[in-house]
Amino acid sequence: MISKIHKVVNTFHISKLTKLCTIVFISILLLLTYTATSPKGDSHSETDSKRPASTRYEQRVASRDGIGKIYMGREISQVMGHLAAGWLERPEREREELPNKLIEMLKLKKGDVVADIGIGTGYIARRISPKIGNEGIIYGVEIQQEMLDILAKTTKEEGITNIKGVLGTITDPKLPANSVDLAIMVDVYHEFSHPYEMMHNICRAIKIGGRVALIEYRLEDDSVLIKRLHKMSELQVVKEMTPHPLSWIETLDGLPWQHVIIFEKVGEG
Ligand SMILES: C[S@@+](CC[C@H](N)C(=O)[O-])C[C@H]1O[C@@H](n2cnc3c(N)ncnc32)[C@H](O)[C@@H]1O
Repeated sequence: MISKIHKVVNTFHISKLTKLCTIVFISILLLLTYTATSPKGDSHSETDSKRPASTRYEQRVASRDGIGKIYMGREISQVMGHLAAGWLERPEREREELPNKLIEMLKLKKGDVVADIGIGTGYIARRISPKIGNEGIIYGVEIQQEMLDILAKTTKEEGITNIKGVLGTITDPKLPANSVDLAIMVDVYHEFSHPYEMMHNICRAIKIGGRVALIEYRLEDDSVLIKRLHKMSELQVVKEMTPHPLSWIETLDGLPWQHVIIFEKVGEG
């Protein structure tokens, strides 16, 4: 770099001393500019909430099922498209995921306000519906209108009235502030293209003392035959929640393939 500056300065017909001073001046200027624009310190030692948004994610070449975007060392997976909606309703799911056992674990009560983020076809929400009764409500958040259309059709056919479809965005579930007792994400969080922004806005929607439940296929378990980027370790989930006002409560491993990782909202973001 110094030799390049030297070459440029040499093209001007000025004295040796002036040339030397000019080289030193330009070098100091470049050094100051570099220091001011470089991220400060080790990226892992800062909490994500304090980072400028531009340094929150890294971009690499995408792997087969990923989008090439890295958050806290994890590549984000592609979103499951609505054309695969049939997979969410597959009969084997009862055996593979024990959805009724999952719902028992969530200890819901009548009148609860639940946000099912990434509701898909409503496979889980339709089973939650009787637990919270007509005094309660399930906000079914989706970014794919086609999934909400399937949800509306199925709930109408089944006479379910306490599930309300909500069209969110990739950064915001568009829920009312401080209104939710439990936000549940079943096989969804690893697909968020903006996990930090989504969790920030989900936390805003949860009441203090309300809960977040992340249900993810266990990465630690090789017998769970699910694509790599659609699985998450408990450690990674807990790590990615640290920028948010959430406290880890418990991890329940009573399901065949998934962790149920539960947090409580302990403050404002
Ligand atoms: C694998 S499906 C799971 C659906 C459902 N939770 C279930 O278990 O049957 C993941 C869903 O999350 C949705 N999704 C992905 N990113 C989202 C976001 N930022 N906000 C809301 N939904 C999202 C996708 O559109 C997709 O329907």
